[in-house]
Amino acid sequence: MLRFGVLLLLLAQPARCSACPPGCACSEAAQTVKCVSKELRFVPAGIPAYTRNLFITGNRISRLGPGSFAGLDNVTTLSLSNNRISEVASHTFSSLHNLRSLDLSSNQLALIHPEAFAVPGLMLKELNLSRALYNHSSVMDLATSLRWSGLEGLQSLDLSGNGLIYLPPRIFSHLSGLRRLQLANNSIVSIYNETFSGLGQLEELDLSLNALKIFGDEGLAELEHVPGAKLHLGDNPYMCTCGIEPFTAWLNASRVRVVDVERLVCLFPVELRNTSLLAAGSLVLGCHRTGEGDNLALQTSYVFLGIVLGFVGLMFLFVLYLNRKGIKKRVYDMRDACREVWEGYHYRYEIDSDPRLSQVSTTADV
Ligand SMILES: *[C@@H]1O[C@H](CO)[C@@H](O)[C@H](O)[C@H]1NC(C)=O
Ligand SMILES: *[C@@H]1O[C@H](CO)[C@@H](O)[C@H](O)[C@H]1NC(C)=O
Ligand SMILES: *[C@@H]1O[C@H](CO)[C@@H](O)[C@H](O)[C@H]1NC(C)=O
Ligand SMILES: *[C@@H]1O[C@H](CO)[C@@H](O)[C@H](O)[C@H]1NC(C)=O
Ligand SMILES: *[C@@H]1O[C@H](CO)[C@@H](O)[C@H](O)[C@H]1NC(C)=O
Ligand SMILES: *[C@@H]1O[C@H](CO)[C@@H](O)[C@H](O)[C@H]1NC(C)=O
Ligand SMILES: *[C@@H]1O[C@H](CO)[C@@H](O)[C@H](O)[C@H]1NC(C)=O
Repeated sequence: MLRFGVLLLLLAQPARCSACPPGCACSEAAQTVKCVSKELRFVPAGIPAYTRNLFITGNRISRLGPGSFAGLDNVTTLSLSNNRISEVASHTFSSLHNLRSLDLSSNQLALIHPEAFAVPGLMLKELNLSRALYNHSSVMDLATSLRWSGLEGLQSLDLSGNGLIYLPPRIFSHLSGLRRLQLANNSIVSIYNETFSGLGQLEELDLSLNALKIFGDEGLAELEHVPGAKLHLGDNPYMCTCGIEPFTAWLNASRVRVVDVERLVCLFPVELRNTSLLAAGSLVLGCHRTGEGDNLALQTSYVFLGIVLGFVGLMFLFVLYLNRKGIKKRVYDMRDACREVWEGYHYRYEIDSDPRLSQVSTTADV
């Protein structure tokens, strides 16, 4: 099998050197081949073996298989961005022994096989999967593939713009050489335990433009697991309630690491919208005295309610004061009325309960 492949390769080589596939522009001097926006449905055959930089972008390729790049030993940079690739089979790139940079951005990957990104010899340094996933469901496939493709040499991974909602635990744990991780412009809601485990070498982590409301204990612990990484945390809908204090305190202590620390602002509650998180930390500190769990919005509304009730009470007292004469009269009237009723009742009761006594009392009255 292998020998047959080598034979085919040798046979194909001379033709490749001279020709350029239809729809592509080939430059032997620059060792570059570009097949851009030509409605290609497959990776074209006959790409010259001298190619180092291969761009097959803006076409309509939907599937990549193990045979797609046979014989292109010298390719170091491959861009397949902006196609309609939905499936990447295992070992699609295994014949690219010198591949360092793979760009699959702007595709619709729904099926990613376990060894889809395998490149021999830890050569692959950069993998661009920005806007590459069909939807969030592909994240499990992706996690499996990142684990099984042998990417310990990978230094940069771009996963921005993929609609990711959560990251499976240990998804990056086999990318021990990773320096730069782009997770911007997703919908990540929270960072849990083990999300960033195994990323001890990380130098840059971008979590901006996500759906993070807060970094809880687990999230903060994860950020501490990547101690050397510069962080981008801006453009998240931070919720400035009492629970955010550990995060703001951490921010204050770690401000040198957070590149955009000055740009982090509260989105909720409305009263604190646009308040810097650094400033919010000290504002919200008051929460502790009234007990944890209350948020500032609730407190504010209690204060407001108190003021309104106090005002209503004052008005009531004032009205009472203005009407004091009338009220006094009424009270007296009422007292008199009560007294009459009471006395009447009392009298009757005595009559009903003891005829003799009533007799005595009537005689006495008389
Ligand atoms: C591939 O690169 C090597 C080393 O840079 C070079 O010697 C070889 O000629 C190249 N192959 C082709 C087919 O150009
Ligand atoms: C990945 O590709 C996108 C779109 O092509 C580009 O904007 C982005 O800069 C690339 N990421 C990296 C890390 O080069
Ligand atoms: C993703 O797409 C697949 C295939 O269309 C679908 O079955 C799945 O429900 C989608 N997942 C999400 C989270 O939208
Ligand atoms: C975020 O990603 C969406 C697609 O998922 C894209 O349309 C949008 O332009 C991106 N926004 C930024 C600021 O990159
Ligand atoms: C997360 O990790 C911490 C220690 O690092 C542990 O105390 C906690 O129970 C873990 N939480 C979960 C949900 O596993
Ligand atoms: C928040 O601040 C930015 C710039 O500092 C401003 O453009 C925006 O209108 C503000 N939003 C609100 C709701 O105040
Ligand atoms: C921020 O940290 C400084 C010391 O680095 C400290 O003096 C200050 O009180 C802290 N502010 C808050 C709000 O925690």
